[in-house]
Amino acid sequence: MSKYILGIESSCDDTSAAILQDTVILSNVIANQEIHSGFGGVVPELASRAHQQNIIPVIHEAIKRAGISKNQLSAVAFTRGPGLLGSLLVGTSFAKSFAWALNIPLIEVDHMQAHILAHFITKADEYSRVPSFPFLCLTVSGGHTQIVRIDDYFSMEIIGQTIDDAAGEAFDKAAKIMGLPYPGGPLIDKFGKEGNPTAFRFAKPHIPELNYSFSGLKTSFLYFLRDNLKNDPDFIEKNKADLCASIQKAIVDSLMDKLIKAVSQTGIAQVAIAGGVSANSALRAAILQKQSEGVFEAFIPEFQYTTDNAAMIAIAGYYKYLNGAFSDYSVAPYSRGSVM
Ligand code: KG4
Ligand code: ZN
Repeated sequence: MSKYILGIESSCDDTSAAILQDTVILSNVIANQEIHSGFGGVVPELASRAHQQNIIPVIHEAIKRAGISKNQLSAVAFTRGPGLLGSLLVGTSFAKSFAWALNIPLIEVDHMQAHILAHFITKADEYSRVPSFPFLCLTVSGGHTQIVRIDDYFSMEIIGQTIDDAAGEAFDKAAKIMGLPYPGGPLIDKFGKEGNPTAFRFAKPHIPELNYSFSGLKTSFLYFLRDNLKNDPDFIEKNKADLCASIQKAIVDSLMDKLIKAVSQTGIAQVAIAGGVSANSALRAAILQKQSEGVFEAFIPEFQYTTDNAAMIAIAGYYKYLNGAFSDYSVAPYSRGSVM
């Protein structure tokens, strides 16, 4: 018999609810919080208040779009962490009360594992290509940059990660330096499409093993702009497209170098990308280029599963359901770390 899993995601600034029928997506509703755009980043206090306003309408809509009744749900899966504590508390508390009211299992999900497991979501009446174990995943978001080796749904090992800023943070900070609103990653992508990626060159960091560093890049971008603005106050406006394309290339090149190193070190030739930055067009193009060169087989998520969404929480919840991995009502969110 089919299992219907409700997923709830509230770790940062997106309130999302989704329903899966086993691995098949029925609905995935995401309410973005526009309120943060003028602040240069997510304001935690405002985020938790917005989650509080959004959560019931979003869940209602997800159930409606799925075309099921809440009494058909088999379990409620929710993001336990990592993320902003005040935001996580909204989803966690709602999940507890809903599971309790419906007398169905409550399932905690790790946000970073969920980004990876999004690759196993399928569509009704359509072939979905999914990775097989083992595979590597480059998880790149606003808070994380990791190369993960995945041996099974919940057997994952981080084999490389950033020692300072995350890739998404590098995009957002570069955008902020250019005076663009938050989140700047999608804007750099958009403006960069018209620009020359080799117009400006930024020094590559030399970090050992499979680890990353992006804070030096941000600083050199800042000094580069500061020096050029002295000579020409309109430097950013005149060179916006080239600046965006060039900083994007620096970030993507750095991500790709270590990913390719990871493939050759592990001998694993299936590579997935996940997280908000996996929406980036230059990263997607670079991954597809390597696939066409025969370096590895690539798995690129649909756009709706790149940035934070509840479908990824529901798929992780589904596999935990099959394992009987249920949580009790004393479960509390965690802001940092991960189960990996
Ligand atoms: O996974 P996500 O939605 O949230 C976190 O868990 O952090 O990732 C958000 C990050 C932000 O830093 C945002 O700027 C970045 O993903 N991002 C992008 C693009 N779309 C989202 N960065 C570059 N290019 C994009 N197209
Ligand atoms: Zn995320």
